[in-house]
Amino acid sequence: MADETQRPWWHDALIYQVYVRSFADANGDGIGDLDGIRSRLDHIASLGADAIWLNPCYPSPQRDHGYDVSNYFDIHDEYGTLDDFDALVSAADARGIKILMDLVPSHCSDEHRWFVAALAAAPGSPERARFYFRDGKGEHGEEPPNNWQAAFGGSAWTRINDDPNDGQWYLATFTPYQPDLDHTNPEVGQLFTEIFEFWFDRGVEGFRVDAVAGTGKHPDLPDQPPVGPDTGVLDITWQNPYSVFREEGHEAWRHFRASLDDYGQRHPDRELMMVAEAYAVRRPELIKKFTEPDQFDQMFSFDLMLTPWHKESIERAMQDPLEILESTGTPPAWTLNNHDIQRIVTRLGRSDADQPESWTNNNLALSGADADLALGERRSRAMAALIFALPGNLFLYQGEEFGLPEVLDIPADRREDPVFHRTDGAEIGRDGCRIPMPWTTDAATSYGFSTGRADGSVGEPWLPQPDGWGDRSLAALDDEAAPTLSLYRRLGDTRAKFAASQPMHATVFDGGPGVVAVRRGSLVVVVNPSAEAVELDLGRLGVSMDQVVLASEPLDAGSSTIPSDTTIWFVSSD
Ligand code: BGC
Repeated sequence: MADETQRPWWHDALIYQVYVRSFADANGDGIGDLDGIRSRLDHIASLGADAIWLNPCYPSPQRDHGYDVSNYFDIHDEYGTLDDFDALVSAADARGIKILMDLVPSHCSDEHRWFVAALAAAPGSPERARFYFRDGKGEHGEEPPNNWQAAFGGSAWTRINDDPNDGQWYLATFTPYQPDLDHTNPEVGQLFTEIFEFWFDRGVEGFRVDAVAGTGKHPDLPDQPPVGPDTGVLDITWQNPYSVFREEGHEAWRHFRASLDDYGQRHPDRELMMVAEAYAVRRPELIKKFTEPDQFDQMFSFDLMLTPWHKESIERAMQDPLEILESTGTPPAWTLNNHDIQRIVTRLGRSDADQPESWTNNNLALSGADADLALGERRSRAMAALIFALPGNLFLYQGEEFGLPEVLDIPADRREDPVFHRTDGAEIGRDGCRIPMPWTTDAATSYGFSTGRADGSVGEPWLPQPDGWGDRSLAALDDEAAPTLSLYRRLGDTRAKFAASQPMHATVFDGGPGVVAVRRGSLVVVVNPSAEAVELDLGRLGVSMDQVVLASEPLDAGSSTIPSDTTIWFVSSD
């Protein structure tokens, strides 16, 4: 039998996501930066991280906080320089931590030199052919070329001016500041080959590839068919069969694969990877398609992140990714949080979180139900203890180890997310999961977020931190041995000790009424998502209480019950 521990690092790594703008600010201007990340590497290492995924840190006008790239070959000036980046890569490497970057191929910024050149060039020019420029409809071209809607609200088309000779429109799936690139144009593919080379040469080990669902369009750009009457305004885009999950996109990914493999063949000591981001919840056929051998190494499994706190739903959320692992060998990429989603403590604390119908495929959908944060945090611990046991990569999002909740009451004039502004506030957007991190209890330094100025002064944090944020800081939690942070640390250790050597294979099985049960080699994990303690059926689970190696809540000595909202790990000695 093959040695289970001899697999590429990215088959079951722990990857810590850093939202650069909000992680740590080493020059005191209220905005996170690369030196700030370097100053906090010990914390990331203490969780057992194998790699860091950096949200986009390329030069950008920040209209969508870095997902509008104006130059793919440099560092955004608020975040530092290429030298600072190199220093971060080597400091991380010294701790055995790899760096993954975020690649944004579907669109660039309207300030990217290609788009500036396209606006200056004529219709039909090679400069415009890198994007989707089209004439409008109507007598004077005053109507958009088709009815497509933008993902963050409004039309997906923007007219460049009213000139009757050149009043063309361009396509932008998210906001007008993010024009879509046309990957059928070989120049576009070539640009991304060069981007790979540039960052791999600097020591980057891979990329999280953004928004792969919307790359590639039907060549005729036909009108989108009508959507159902209940379709939310931010869901319309994702139901467009002519612009979402298109075969044309897969052609682009094959080119990416070839570029990555070409680099890998020239550098056989490297183990490079690409993970695709798209919301393919309950659509395993899509994950299989994106992870065919000529495309991505893996694709996020967002099912568990979006599942309600409900037995059958949790079981269901694990089944597709595990089945894919079984049938194709593609390791799942599990995650419970990211920079686009309400934090799990708030989500799972909501009074409707245990209703099966609260399942959503909308990454921005928000339930307005009241949240009990203590309950949400307890459930989040149970969920973390589950995913740490599963085969595949774990992507943690900064602050989940502190049990940070979503910040819901940001004043409208401090909100930054284009989702809020482009829906006229109808959708509150994603700022609430991007609040600058609390590191200490010192309010004068934005709770340790901002440091570095000689006179000790700090700029206002780019998003406001709520009162009491310091109580959730690393320093405060360390002092009180807080249950969430200490569990994350124990999970890192226990995973390294007991899970990492288990096979890349796990099954969800019937462990008795009320509980979710998963077996992975000699590890059995049991979750009780119900509101009552449950007497464990040890015979059916095939375990005994003296095999417990970890529990997300204290257990009663001598008892064989699992408390409510709790996860237990059992490891048998054979
Ligand atoms: C990213 C978002 C971003 C969008 C457009 C998403 O998948 O995660 O943060 O706004 O793509 O690039």
